[in-house]
Amino acid sequence: MKKETEVSAVSSSSTQVGIVGGGPAGLMLSHLLDRAGIDNIVIDNRTRGEIESTVRAGILEVDSVNLLVDTGVSDRVFRDGHAHEGIELRFGGENHRIDFKSLVGESAWLYPQTDVFIDLADSRERDGADVRFGIGGVRVSDATADRPSITYSDDQGEHEIHCDYLVGADGSRSICRHEMPESQRRHFFKEYPFAWFGFLVEAPPSAPELVYVHSDRGFALISQRTDSLQRMYFQCDPDEDVAKWSDDRIWEEMQARVAGADGFSLKEGPISDQAVLRFRSFVCEPMRYGSMVLAGDAAHTVPPTGAKGLNLALADVKILAEVLERSVAADDKTILDDYGPRALDRVWRAQQFSYWMTTMLHTLPEADDYDNARQVAELASVVSSVPGSTYLAEAYTGWPGRD
Ligand code: DHB
Repeated sequence: MKKETEVSAVSSSSTQVGIVGGGPAGLMLSHLLDRAGIDNIVIDNRTRGEIESTVRAGILEVDSVNLLVDTGVSDRVFRDGHAHEGIELRFGGENHRIDFKSLVGESAWLYPQTDVFIDLADSRERDGADVRFGIGGVRVSDATADRPSITYSDDQGEHEIHCDYLVGADGSRSICRHEMPESQRRHFFKEYPFAWFGFLVEAPPSAPELVYVHSDRGFALISQRTDSLQRMYFQCDPDEDVAKWSDDRIWEEMQARVAGADGFSLKEGPISDQAVLRFRSFVCEPMRYGSMVLAGDAAHTVPPTGAKGLNLALADVKILAEVLERSVAADDKTILDDYGPRALDRVWRAQQFSYWMTTMLHTLPEADDYDNARQVAELASVVSSVPGSTYLAEAYTGWPGRD
C-alpha cells in the first residue's frame, strides 16, 4: 500500500546524461554532448529570466572564447565583446600596465557572463535541446549508483528522469555534491574577512582597460560594460548594508581609493544594482564518485579577483564532455576517473592565482603600515620585472597553450 503522502510519477523518462544546473557549465556541457551524439536533459530550479538578471563577472579567457566560437554557440563575443590587451595595476596612486599581448601574446575578453549565458541558452533553444528551467523541488537519488535519477514536481505531479550519468553543475550550493558520502570527499576551504560592494554606473568608461586598485583605504576595481554602462567594485565588510550607501557616499569612497598624483578620477553617473558579494575559496575532491561528476562552482569556487569562476566552469565541461564521450563509447564508467585530475590541474592553478591577486590587493581588517608597505613592494616586484608580470599575464589570460 502506498503511503498517503507518496506521489506516483506522472512522467518517467530516461537519458544518457542528466545535468542538474542550467548555468553556463550545464548548458555548455549539454551543447558539447549533443555534438557528440549523446542524449542529455538539463534541469534548473531558476527561471531563464532569473539567471539572466543576475549581474556577474565580465572577463573571458582566450580558451573560453574559442570554446564558444569554435563549437558554434555564438561569435557575438567578437561583435559585442572587447579584447583587452592588458590591465592596469594601480598602487601608490599610479597606474602600472601589465601588457598581456607583449608578455604572452594573448588578450582577455571583456564579455559579461550574462551574455555567455544568453548565447548558450539561445543556442540550446535553436538546437531543440531538452532544457527545463524554473523547475521546483529538484531531488537526485542513487546519484552515485549505477542508474541515478532526478525527480522534481510541478502542478501535474512528480517527474522522474533516469540517467546513465549524473552531472552536478548546480553551483556553489550544489545539492549533488552532498550525495557523495562525506567520508569519501574532502573539502578545501578558505574564507576572507572582506567582500566586494559591486554596482553598475550609467556613465562613459573611466579607463580603456580594467584597473585593479590597491589603496590604503582598501581595494577597488574599475571594469566596463558598454560605452554608457560601467561595472565597479570596492572592498567592503562582508556584513555591509547596501542601503547605507548613497550614490554620493559611494563616489566619495571610490574617488578616494583611486586618487593619486596623476590626477586620475572616475566618471560619475547614476548607480544601480548595488550588491555585496561575499567570497571564499573552495575545492571539493574528488570530482567524480560512482556515476556522478561535479563541474564548475559545484566542485570549486574562487574569490572574484581575476574573474576565474566562469572560465574554470567552461574548462571543466570541455574536459568532461571528452571524457564522457569515451566512457559512453566504451560503456565503461571507470574512464570517468580521467576527468577530476585533469580538471583539477587548472582548478588549483586558478585557486592560487585568485588567492594571490586577492591577498596582494585587499587590506586585511587588522593590517598595519608594515602590511601595507609589504603589499606595495610585492606589487612593485610584479610590475617591474618581466617574469613577475608574465606570471600574472599568463594566469589572467588563462594559461594559453595549456589544455
Ligand atoms: C569583473 C569582475 C571581476 O571579478 C574581475 O576580476 C574583472 C572584471 C567584471 O565584472 O567586469
